[in-house]
Amino acid sequence: MRTLNVGCGPDDWGDVRVDVDFKTQTGATSKLNVRADAHYLPFRDSVFSFGRCWHVLEHVENPAQALLELRRTCESFDVRFPVDEGYYKQMIIGALSLDVGMFLGAYRTMKGRFHRWRISPSFVERSLRMDQNKLLLANATISDRFIQCPHSSGLLSGRKSAVFRRFLNALGPLLKKVTMKYYYEWKVEV
Ligand SMILES: C[S@@+](CC[C@H](N)C(=O)[O-])C[C@H]1O[C@@H](n2cnc3c(N)ncnc32)[C@H](O)[C@@H]1O
Repeated sequence: MRTLNVGCGPDDWGDVRVDVDFKTQTGATSKLNVRADAHYLPFRDSVFSFGRCWHVLEHVENPAQALLELRRTCESFDVRFPVDEGYYKQMIIGALSLDVGMFLGAYRTMKGRFHRWRISPSFVERSLRMDQNKLLLANATISDRFIQCPHSSGLLSGRKSAVFRRFLNALGPLLKKVTMKYYYEWKVEV
């Protein structure tokens, strides 16, 4: 079984991990083993049993073409993209949780206009319908990954974390009531 990760960025899942660059737009190191463009995958038809393309379509110039390349090269695949514009809520949750990494990542995405598109499950379906030769079977759901707010990793790391931990423990019962989960991504299985 051979698996393909298109636009892998720092995600090390997959036998073959493709990225167009050695660093993501926000500066994380990519774990690629093939440098290529999602619009023109340098592989033969149906050579992969399964593919993954997470949080990439919103970045590329022609997401429909990237989808057709996934369709051509993989027997089946899993595409994920933000449920919204992909940064405002992360910025707010990052700021509320004192999570500098989350805040800055989302801020840089917004400031750099890294998201060219807002992708929807119906866009994925319509794009794949352009490929008349293959039957489309797509299943769209909100994925089970979420960001919790307040998010604990910012508050509970760093030099001042002991203070925050004590503070959070004291507020425990109340926090449980106000904690909310932000389910941030669509998952479309094809
Ligand atoms: C937001 S990151 C997502 C990384 C990873 N898939 C994940 O979910 O953590 C977007 C990645 O897509 C890559 N990318 C953008 N345009 C691309 C293209 N045309 N072809 C291949 N990769 C591309 C970027 O270099 C970056 O690593």
